[in-house]
Amino acid sequence: MNIDVILKEMTLEEKASLCSGKDSWHTKPVERLDIPEIMVSDGPHGLRKVKDESAAMNQAIDAVCFPTACATACSFDRELVANMGKALGQACKAEKVAVLLGPGCNIKRSPLCGRNFEYFSEDPYLSSQIAASHIQGVQSMGIGTSLKHFACNNQETRRMTCTANMDERTFFEIYAAAFEGAVKQGKPYTVMCSYNRINNVYSSENKFLLTDVLRDKWGFDGLVMSDWGAVNDRTEGIKAGLDLEMPSSHGVNDKKIVESVKNGTLDEKLLDKAARNVLNLVNKAENGLCSDVQWDMQAQHKLARTIAAECAVLLKNDSALLPLDTSKSIAFIGDFAKNPRYQGGGSSHINSFKVTSALEAVKEYCEVEYAQGYDSNTDVSDEKLINEAVECAKKCEVAVVFAGLTDLYESEGFDRKHMAMPANQLELIDKVCEVCSNVVVVLHNGSPVEMPFKNKVKSILEMYLGGQAVGGATCDLLFGKVNPSGKLAETFPERLSDNPSFISFPGEKDDVQYREGIFVGYRYYDFKQIEPLFPFGHGLSYTTFEYSDIKLSSNAVNADDELTVSVKVKNTGKIEGKEVVQLYVTDKEASVIRPVKELKGFEKVSLKPGETKNVMFKLNKRAFAFYCEAAHDWLVEEGDFTISVGSSSRDIRLTDEVFVSSKDRIPVKYTVNSPLGDIAADPNSTKVFGNMFEEISRGMRQAQPEDSMGAATEMMTNAMIREMPIRAVLSFSGEAFMTYDELGMKIDELNRINNY
Ligand code: BGC
Repeated sequence: MNIDVILKEMTLEEKASLCSGKDSWHTKPVERLDIPEIMVSDGPHGLRKVKDESAAMNQAIDAVCFPTACATACSFDRELVANMGKALGQACKAEKVAVLLGPGCNIKRSPLCGRNFEYFSEDPYLSSQIAASHIQGVQSMGIGTSLKHFACNNQETRRMTCTANMDERTFFEIYAAAFEGAVKQGKPYTVMCSYNRINNVYSSENKFLLTDVLRDKWGFDGLVMSDWGAVNDRTEGIKAGLDLEMPSSHGVNDKKIVESVKNGTLDEKLLDKAARNVLNLVNKAENGLCSDVQWDMQAQHKLARTIAAECAVLLKNDSALLPLDTSKSIAFIGDFAKNPRYQGGGSSHINSFKVTSALEAVKEYCEVEYAQGYDSNTDVSDEKLINEAVECAKKCEVAVVFAGLTDLYESEGFDRKHMAMPANQLELIDKVCEVCSNVVVVLHNGSPVEMPFKNKVKSILEMYLGGQAVGGATCDLLFGKVNPSGKLAETFPERLSDNPSFISFPGEKDDVQYREGIFVGYRYYDFKQIEPLFPFGHGLSYTTFEYSDIKLSSNAVNADDELTVSVKVKNTGKIEGKEVVQLYVTDKEASVIRPVKELKGFEKVSLKPGETKNVMFKLNKRAFAFYCEAAHDWLVEEGDFTISVGSSSRDIRLTDEVFVSSKDRIPVKYTVNSPLGDIAADPNSTKVFGNMFEEISRGMRQAQPEDSMGAATEMMTNAMIREMPIRAVLSFSGEAFMTYDELGMKIDELNRINNY
């Protein structure tokens, strides 16, 4: 397809028609010019292709549900996630679906967001890395992805009208950064804009977001589509860079686009850009779908099991209760053992062709007793079910309680109100602990929960929403066939009120102020020295690892150079295992407020007992930078940085330091109200003011009477001089140094020298 030729041939109406869907899942064909329609489908952790392709919400075809994003992020394993992506791409290809709607990489601002299970992490670097791998996996099959929901869709409450209001630094350092890495590295075919507004402007008509940042700053050259029904003003959308409205607007907005071009409110060139992006996507899709592929669901079910096991996080394991000894009598307790909760509700809901429960999978290992314990459709305790469970636990040496959150607790469309687990499950765990001293809790949930039982049980295994094969994966971990290796991609706070967004989530009606700024997740808990229930990056193994020999390629680098960090990690236990080695960077002295440390690298290594491997990280300028609002850019402040390498954000094993030299300066525009100390400290100030500041300082000191306060008076005088606006010097001295007009001119000159 020669897009230039086609665009020239197209009528205005035909071009406008390309800018919205034919129905819920297809773009519009243009038969006259042989332009076919293409199909898109949800996503992200399975294929949800509706049986009746023209219907919006319809029974979906049988498919494979892989672990959801909250789980896959915990693998900290790029290759694993890319393999899952390949399997998803295979499914799409077999079903002639051109674009899979996902992954979602919104930051987990609050544990309460109903859609957290579809998102990766509270950390932008981890989110972007996992998202990029997911995208690369799917797209390696010739199938497109849609990175969503761009941006700041961090809650479900009033998601279609609320405005996520934040400062520029918070936007770029946290919320946009998750997308930035995914866009630059993953190169998704499409990006889906979010429903919400950002600083009062709808994402679907936000030029800053869709063009200035996404295309101009990050170099995105694909298609931008709307979330389903996210369009507010279609003409503004075209101007902002929204190419495709989804789903269909039944011709209404196509007409508006045509009218806007005709009445001169929309430049046709902008419409051409949008139409070109749609045509480009159609072109890519056609190429990607031209070959056939077999969708082997049984093989994918096995893969889903492997992936789920790699993602699970062993949160606690006292007295090495896990892995379980099959010669012991074991009880599986809880409805989730039989009917696992393995995915969330809403657009990502997959019609699984098969689900394996732990109760079914355990037969591969041993016999267990079973009691239901609670009813998943309610929070209310059922005395009979609890009594049965207690009797069952009494008979056994080990009780494994399957618990977590039910569908009533978290889903697309609404947020949780609290972090507690259902009361009937909590009562069950308590009662079981009264009769059994070896209790394991297996959790199925999409987001952190409070754990009042933490000190009563010996082991806690977090399976998250682990996909349709989660039961098999759970048993593989419980019985030690697989050694747990997942790490938390988010902090589990002790209580909801510890969370930094607690006060301002979910906002006042449509107004959501991100008052915690960049201090999201561990960035906040670290700074405030709050002990979390389980920290970011935490996860145990059945073996142990020893870290040694941290080596930096140099202890002094230029910000533009690459720094290599290597460490040795040894498996000091008796069984094979995998460790996620995490690298954090700290700016030791910064003129802006920065987090205590930030994740800038991670590698997952597999080690046989006694084996040692060298783990390497490469750090570039971004690893040391912060986003400077005055420069509208990422800057590195020259100075010492600490490199910390560890097994979790709170289990740092090795550190070293590096001096990073940098020419970056925070641009400052001085005024007559700038403090004297700031101007005096500017390297260019003597060029403009000579030794005026020394004279002022001497004069003020001399003016102080000798008194008994001595040192305190000296401190006060210094502080007053330092922090006094420069205009005050003139009024105190009666313009002895210069006139107000002269001061104004000198300040302008200094700004000029500093290029401001
Ligand atoms: C969701 C998207 C989804 C789309 C299509 C929207 O409501 O926010 O994530 O891809 O529906 O189902």
